[in-house]
Parts: sequence; structure tokens; C-alpha cells
Amino acid sequence: MWTTGATVITDLIQLIYVSQPFGYDSATLAGILLDARNHNTRDGITGALVCRHDIYLQLLEGPADQVNAAYARILRDDRHVGIKELVRRDVTQRIFGDWAMLHDPEVSWIWSREDIADGQLDRATPADVVDVFTRLSAKVQTDAST
Ligand SMILES: Cc1cc2nc3c(=O)[nH]c(=O)nc-3n(C[C@H](O)[C@H](O)[C@H](O)COP(=O)(O)O)c2cc1C
Repeated sequence: MWTTGATVITDLIQLIYVSQPFGYDSATLAGILLDARNHNTRDGITGALVCRHDIYLQLLEGPADQVNAAYARILRDDRHVGIKELVRRDVTQRIFGDWAMLHDPEVSWIWSREDIADGQLDRATPADVVDVFTRLSAKVQTDAST
């Protein structure tokens, strides 16, 4: 049995991947977020999508079977290319328990476009990548309480 939010579930995983948008505009992004939120609410998945013209960086967290199924669909999606898995780990609690898919257009980037073009994300450790989302979550919580 599992639920979203703070409740501990037994097979919780986090998966983070990076990709390059194919046809990035506000209508495409709105469509992606609508798909993501509808499916994730159904599937008990939470997470965040950090995005910019040159890059998507997404964290998915939830029951392993559901996250794997969502990722399989995401791999087939032609709205992005060059999909590369960066982190896959078992966890005991969620970072984005309240969010079917938080959307962050710019705030949490620690890498500039030039850094990305220079391959810095390829050299980042899994801890560096997780840290982007930990900081995003902390920022959202701070904003909500002020
Ligand atoms: C950048 C990006 C992020 C996405 N995030 C999710 C997600 O979090 N959950 C999800 O179910 N689908 C997500 N999708 C959409 C899936 O690729 C797919 O279109 C959707 O799950 C519907 O699949 P179906 O048409 O096979 O039912 C994302 C797509 C893109 C391009």
C-alpha cells in the first residue's frame, strides 16, 4: 500500500533525467505539464520539471513500477530528444510530496547555458544533480511561508 505526501511507502524511488526540448514554446510546455500532472496524480508520482530552452531536467518520485512506466512513456515522447538518465535511487521519503509536477522555468539553475554547452552537467555527480532539486524544494517552501 502507498499514498503520496509524508507517508512512508516501501518501494519508493527517485529518478532524474536530462533531455533537450524539441519544439520548446509555451503551448508545448503547457501540454507536457497537463499530461504529467494528470498521469502523476493517477499514479502516485510527484516531482519537478526544471526547464529552459536548451534543457529539461526532471525528477520523478513514487512507487517503482509507476515511475518506471512513466519513464518508459517519457522516453518515447517526441517533444524532447537526447534523454539521459542521471540518477536512480531508492528513497524513504519524497522531496516534492505536495506536487504532481512542480514547474520551475529558471530559478534553480546552477549551470548557465554556456556551462551546459560545455558539458558541465555531464561531469556533475549524482549528489550535485539531487542538490538542484533539494534547493528548489527549499525555495518553494520558503516562498510559501512568506
Ligand atoms: C519533458 C517531459 C516531461 C514529462 N513528464 C511526465 C510525467 O511526469 N509523467 C507522465 O506521466 N508523463 C510525462 N510526460 C508525458 C509522457 O511523455 C506521455 O506523453 C504521457 O505520459 C502520456 O502517455 P500516453 O499517451 O502513452 O498515455 C512528459 C513528457 C515530457 C516531454
